[in-house]
Amino acid sequence: MTTSRRTFLKRASLASAPFILPTRIWAADTKPNDKPRMAFIGLGIQSRGLLGNFLHQDVTVVAMCDVDTTRREDGIKRVDDFYKSHPDKGIPGNCKGYNDFRDVLARKDIDLVCIATPDHWHAYITIAAMAAGKDVYCEKPLTYNIHEAAAVMAAAKRYKRILQTGAMQRSSFEFLTAAELVRNGCIGTIKHVDCNFGGPSRPHADPKEEIPMEPGLDWDLWCGGAPLVKYNDKLSPRGVHNFFPMVWRMNDLFGSGYCGDWGAHHLDIAQWGLGMDQSGPVKVIRAERSEKDKANTELGGRAQSGVVLEFAGGITLKHNPFSVFGTIFHGTEGTVSVNRGKFEMTRGTELISRFTKKEDGGSLDGALAKARKAFLTDSTYKTKLYKTKGGHPADFVACAKSRLPACSNEDVGGRAAILCHLCNLSYVRDASFDWDPVKNTFANGTGNAGWLARDGGYRKKWSV
Ligand SMILES: NC(=O)c1ccc[n+]([C@@H]2O[C@H](COP(=O)([O-])OP(=O)(O)OC[C@H]3O[C@@H](n4cnc5c(N)ncnc54)[C@H](O)[C@@H]3O)[C@@H](O)[C@H]2O)c1
Repeated sequence: MTTSRRTFLKRASLASAPFILPTRIWAADTKPNDKPRMAFIGLGIQSRGLLGNFLHQDVTVVAMCDVDTTRREDGIKRVDDFYKSHPDKGIPGNCKGYNDFRDVLARKDIDLVCIATPDHWHAYITIAAMAAGKDVYCEKPLTYNIHEAAAVMAAAKRYKRILQTGAMQRSSFEFLTAAELVRNGCIGTIKHVDCNFGGPSRPHADPKEEIPMEPGLDWDLWCGGAPLVKYNDKLSPRGVHNFFPMVWRMNDLFGSGYCGDWGAHHLDIAQWGLGMDQSGPVKVIRAERSEKDKANTELGGRAQSGVVLEFAGGITLKHNPFSVFGTIFHGTEGTVSVNRGKFEMTRGTELISRFTKKEDGGSLDGALAKARKAFLTDSTYKTKLYKTKGGHPADFVACAKSRLPACSNEDVGGRAAILCHLCNLSYVRDASFDWDPVKNTFANGTGNAGWLARDGGYRKKWSV
């Protein structure tokens, strides 16, 4: 997102103004100058990190919701313990637990909701929360499929809510610097982008042996709009787990593989650097499957990398396996490569600056400063991108107050999710197709409209 002069001036004046809520913006029970009240839905490992951050923001955490009793009770205890040790921030004993998110959304005193469930729930809960008048921080990828991305983008506008997608690389200086160098022409005209992350999703497989259901887990509500598959403790690990559960992420029914996992970060940065936040590719070109790919039935016989997205003007973006850098921009005059804590810029054959690890010498800040000082000078630094203050969660809270679009708002997060799903779809369907980034449909008689939505439709009442 580019910060326009008007938005900049509005932001600047709001930053210095006293915080008074516009009437009827937040929950009916929230009075001017009250701290916004916040609920968490989905209390797995990512949510714990987010909670640790949001507790320090200007919000009061009042509700913890998870279909798993152990994680729900652990969440409430974390909030209470925090308020016991930070009495200036809140009062222990006021945070309530919920199994069903609809009971949270029905509360008239809740203003903000953080959603960190597995991806197949994101769109349904986000839209329901916005319809109930809540602003939403929803984890990435914003949705499970393309149909849902369009629905969330429309709903945020219909309900006039603030939405932040958890693609927090946009709040890190190395990614901002990379995108600004690219957007300001410092490596010439961009011809190609490499995005490096793991493979696509895989067909669902039930566990070979029956796994006894964990007591206190509402498995039906965990599965939601996806098919009610056999309970599997790899999909929903028991207890308070300290690892990222990869099995639901890699499963066709609940996630979109690494395309939606790391792709939601690195494709998002590509989209930022290319200035494509309001647009998308016009062509998706399938990857050739090797004999090894074809033989691997567990992975669905799918290629694992190599899909190419083509943008207007012939710019190409290729998905490659994980590498040191997540996103690499190739311009006519040089390259900019970036990942978390890593940065490199070249011009022709000259290395301008590089930092990937301590052994390289120097520091990340030093490498960024050197490139910025040399290339983002007064005469060239025309496009200034949105720089968050205090990080991604803080940006969400500030935007909920100011009513200005968040850094990873519905269009940014929705478009990034579409990139992830176009990439994954090409592997899953083993197909090339043309794409209309305005209508978000297949073009020129290619593709199949059915691929945009959940295969086989949604279960029960959970249609998006
Ligand atoms: N921004 C990042 O860098 C980042 C990093 C990791 C994960 N994530 C995202 O965060 C989300 C959660 O990932 P995770 O690794 O924490 O997964 P997880 O499986 O550890 O946690 C998900 C939690 O949601 C709960 N849940 C499932 N259905 C629910 C429902 N209907 N209502 C309430 N709770 C429900 C589960 O019981 C579980 O506790 C995913 O979308 C993931 O992509 C983002």
